[in-house]
Amino acid sequence: PRKNLTTSNHLRHVESMAHLPSGAGRITRLNALILGDALASEEDDLVFPSEVLSTQAHVSSPQKYLEMYQRSVHDPSGFWSDIASEFYWREKWGQQVYHENFDVRKGKIKIEWFKGGMTNICYNCLDRNIESGKGDKTAIYWEGNEPGLDSSMTYNQLLARVCQLANYLKDVGVHKGDAVVIYLPMLMELPIAMLACARIGAIHSVVFAGFSAESLAQRIIDCRPKVVITCNAVRRGSKIIYLKEIVDSALLESAQKGIVTDVCLTYENESAMKKEMTKWTKGRDIWWQDVILKYPVTCDVEWVDAEDPLFLLYTSGSTGKPKGVLHTTGGYMVYTATTFKYAFDYKPTDIYWCTADCGWITGHSYVTYGPLLNGATVVVFEGAPNYPDVGRCWDIVDKYKVSIFYTAPTLVRSLMREGDEHVSRYSRKSLRVLGSVGEPINPSAWRWFFNVIGDARCPISDTWWQTETGGFMITPLPGAWPQKPGSATFPFFGVQPVIVDEKGVEIEGECSGYLCVKSSWPGAFRTLHGDHERYETTYFSAFPGYYFSGDGCSRDKDGYYWLTGRVDDVINVSGHRIGTAEVESALVSHPQCAEAAVVGVEHEVKGQGIYAFVTIVEGVPYSDDLRKSLVMVVRNQRLTRYIGHQVFQRREVGK
Ligand code: PRX
Repeated sequence: PRKNLTTSNHLRHVESMAHLPSGAGRITRLNALILGDALASEEDDLVFPSEVLSTQAHVSSPQKYLEMYQRSVHDPSGFWSDIASEFYWREKWGQQVYHENFDVRKGKIKIEWFKGGMTNICYNCLDRNIESGKGDKTAIYWEGNEPGLDSSMTYNQLLARVCQLANYLKDVGVHKGDAVVIYLPMLMELPIAMLACARIGAIHSVVFAGFSAESLAQRIIDCRPKVVITCNAVRRGSKIIYLKEIVDSALLESAQKGIVTDVCLTYENESAMKKEMTKWTKGRDIWWQDVILKYPVTCDVEWVDAEDPLFLLYTSGSTGKPKGVLHTTGGYMVYTATTFKYAFDYKPTDIYWCTADCGWITGHSYVTYGPLLNGATVVVFEGAPNYPDVGRCWDIVDKYKVSIFYTAPTLVRSLMREGDEHVSRYSRKSLRVLGSVGEPINPSAWRWFFNVIGDARCPISDTWWQTETGGFMITPLPGAWPQKPGSATFPFFGVQPVIVDEKGVEIEGECSGYLCVKSSWPGAFRTLHGDHERYETTYFSAFPGYYFSGDGCSRDKDGYYWLTGRVDDVINVSGHRIGTAEVESALVSHPQCAEAAVVGVEHEVKGQGIYAFVTIVEGVPYSDDLRKSLVMVVRNQRLTRYIGHQVFQRREVGK
């Protein structure tokens, strides 16, 4: 018996894995669900997709999933090359579709997909879609911070803008393999800059434009870019952030360490700040608007090997130094496009909005590449979700008729506190599929998201993945199977998750332990920039033979996966990874702080908050001012402002 898309009143509280009952293994159990014999007893846990949604879905049943999943793990070469063939390859890959050594005991860790294949991800996002008739389709709807300030761009227009910038970058000496640092807010120029780099084979390194000068300098020093792309300022909510000044300090700091960047291309973000007010370093700084428009609107593509680097993205680890996660071209392209298509059940008529900033992996894979590879229309939002009021998201959803809305639990929880009335005054009837990412979504937030935002109509794709994985790893496929609030459900095609105990032994069936993956998938990162050894020790040495995610996880008797959070020295605050060591080193840089130890604490809205134990220098009295200045030292060394998944806080909650 199938229920409609409504949650049952008797939903069991599955807040913690300890409450889950025991039972059989994963796929076997899913088979049982298919056969229907588990439904009577499990009904209360399960939220079924509607017949209408299921019938039209790319994967319309557990059987269909099982067929595809089995093929993807038993014949990965066949499965992925069939999908890869839908893209444009200048030259096809070699005989071996993939090559992997996943076991440190057998030598160097190595992952390659489609090696020898020559392609270009920018070509596949733009030219290929234009050639298939999507030139006049809207690629990007841009919504500014101020309601009423907006614009849009078709695929044809986007290609022209990308080509102009690509030509400029070539002109100032950026070649294939060179790094370009992008420090921009959510303007259309951000995806344009990423695509322009990809077009000419340059490696982009987007730094979240909320990071401090120090964090930016650290990244500049590590990847030594030829060009830094930024803008003078941005308005978020009622605040103005002067990004160019942050870049100036970062460039000064990196120059003092011997890393000199020749060009700082600066976009004049007129609505936030006029050109004339911007501090300028002659010879180095160039106004985007002064030069880019003079360049031709076509630009030859640099064909690159599937294994040539596409981008670097820094992420926090358990030591103070951020890790430069490196993704390559071909596998990442195939993987982000495929995961986007299936996990959101994407249809050409969809309007898609992901609230993440391109400064994070979510913005790379699911604002820029995944959607554009599918020829989708993407909403890019510059502002804050509580400005001018807390209904802004639904105002945007109604304005653009957004059908797929992808966000983070922390935003869901903050909106939930504001009350249903801010949601119900908007129609939201265009919504079809919802998505969640970045941290575990607690069942009560899941239900609110489902019942209030989605009017109990829209399935939620709770996508578990990481900067390192490039794309979704464990995720619902809307329409394929019933959901359980708070569970990321089942592995994506080609992903073989395993749960291991502390000795690294795989545990079967219903269990909890450390989440690992046992073989490579096309979107996997290939190394850490300049430190392959750290790549091997961090991810492949804890449990030899496996990729270790750093997350704890349990599997219930139906085989559903439940992510429980980090098990290493990483704290997840509002979906953002923060290394405890990073915070500790910031604290001890304070002249009055002798020692520091940092842990995560549960936080009602942010998932986790940061709690610091400090030993103060002998003779210094503890005071509230000292506490505040310790907080400031942490804030200044890492974040200039706190945006990311666009979290806001109006009241003090908890600690
Ligand atoms: O702990 C997991 C959590 O976020 C971590 C990855 O963070 P980052 O590399 O910044 O990427 C965030 C966006 C993919 C993971 O190790 N995480 C991410 N998604 C989920 C999650 N935890 C539970 N459920 C999720 N859906």
